[in-house]
Amino acid sequence: KRVAILISGGGSNMLALLRDMAGDHPARPVLVASNDPEAGGLAKAAALGIATAALDHRAWPDRESFEAALAEAIDASGADLICLAGFMRILTPGFIRRYQGRMLNIHPSLLPKYPGLHTHARALAAGDAEAGCTVHEVTADLDAGPILGQARVPILPGDTEDSLAARVLTMEHRLYPAVLRRFAAGDRSPLSLP
Ligand code: GRF
Repeated sequence: KRVAILISGGGSNMLALLRDMAGDHPARPVLVASNDPEAGGLAKAAALGIATAALDHRAWPDRESFEAALAEAIDASGADLICLAGFMRILTPGFIRRYQGRMLNIHPSLLPKYPGLHTHARALAAGDAEAGCTVHEVTADLDAGPILGQARVPILPGDTEDSLAARVLTMEHRLYPAVLRRFAAGDRSPLSLP
């Protein structure tokens, strides 16, 4: 399998995926693309010898034309699997349909709880005992596709949004690579960590 990873920022999840694919693995990375040319992850990917594409979404007049350029870069790389990793653009149903069934995302909550943004603040405000992250297939419904894996962490007394986010991010870096290995090998059965 050939994987394209889409990022918008630092790319810590991207790095975790790249590191895992460096070993014996059913998939290999062929592209890292970002909608933000300033994304820190682009330099990290380039340093690892991975082809990169920076497509500033503000350089296109509308969502569809940006996504056409993104799809062109993805298809030119030969990717047959897409991992959204801290990618912060809503994708149109047309783009999603093009890759449905072979596009994954990681979301920093225990879906179906807290789709959308500010997930850690919402879990804290709700007084939840635990939080976590979810890897799911991307469908037209935001953060609502078939769940491929979840990882849980405790919410501790005195936790802030930052301390909780850091604890969840550590689990994201374990969950996403584990799910991608299985998915690339054709196993779509849900994984639970720990
Ligand atoms: C983080 O908030 C993470 O929880 C979510 O995307 C954001 C950036 O992740 N998945 P990354 O460091 O760019 O992978």
